[in-house]
Amino acid sequence: MRFAVLGSGQVGRSLGAGLVRHGHDVVMGSRDPGSEQVRAWVAGSGDRAAAATYADAAQQGEVAVLATAWSGTESALMLAGAENLAGKIIIDVTNPLGFGPDGPHLVIGHTDSAGEQVQRWLRHSRVVKTWNTVNHAHMIDPKIPGGPGTMFYCGNDADAKTFVADLLDQCGWPSLDAGGIDGARLLEPLTILWVRYAMAHGTSDHAFKLLRP
Ligand SMILES: NC(=O)c1ccc[n+]([C@@H]2O[C@H](COP(=O)([O-])OP(=O)(O)OC[C@H]3O[C@@H](n4cnc5c(N)ncnc54)[C@H](OP(=O)(O)O)[C@@H]3O)[C@@H](O)[C@H]2O)c1
Repeated sequence: MRFAVLGSGQVGRSLGAGLVRHGHDVVMGSRDPGSEQVRAWVAGSGDRAAAATYADAAQQGEVAVLATAWSGTESALMLAGAENLAGKIIIDVTNPLGFGPDGPHLVIGHTDSAGEQVQRWLRHSRVVKTWNTVNHAHMIDPKIPGGPGTMFYCGNDADAKTFVADLLDQCGWPSLDAGGIDGARLLEPLTILWVRYAMAHGTSDHAFKLLRP
């Protein structure tokens, strides 16, 4: 499968490298695909890795992973072009975070979510929210003490969710369907709980787990 990973931050680089390790082709979309950081990522990730503008990456990817800072997400999607993503599965990893003196907080919540906003921006794509509740280092092949945890996902398209559940399984994550894309109203606040634990205990190696009968 050829993935477009939109955004070259920590998440884009970790997920991109992990997907390549699992045998996928990855084209990383960036405002500056020639930057030193992006070139280093391509050079260190093997023959299946490449970089391009957001628009070219979106066009080339069969599936896209949205790994942008929330504040830049609308702009990144405008650069990518909704027409280049139409009909495709979009794996939305974003969290709608603002940063204040008390740490990160949600800038959307309760009655809306980033996942729903992304689905509105990409009306003809099939958005599935996942991977937003763990640190980037554990998104693929997690090495969490006491793990594996549970990776929640949600979206409106059943086939897209089946694809994502299979991908999560391939990447070492037991997963759980959290319903339609409005489930992002539940998954995104989990990030704040994750951050509080991280700040209190000085760790990034934790994740949520649903215990079931
Ligand atoms: N860090 C984590 O462990 C983690 C875990 C779970 C979820 N998340 C979520 O995943 C997303 C990515 O996280 P991150 O830590 O990788 O974020 P980041 O480093 O802050 O930003 C990721 C990328 O977003 C792109 N971007 C930023 N502003 C933009 C703009 N105005 N227009 C277009 N693109 C812009 C940039 O890519 P280019 O410079 O290549 O264009 C940037 O490298 C965030 O929404 C975050 O909340 C992060």
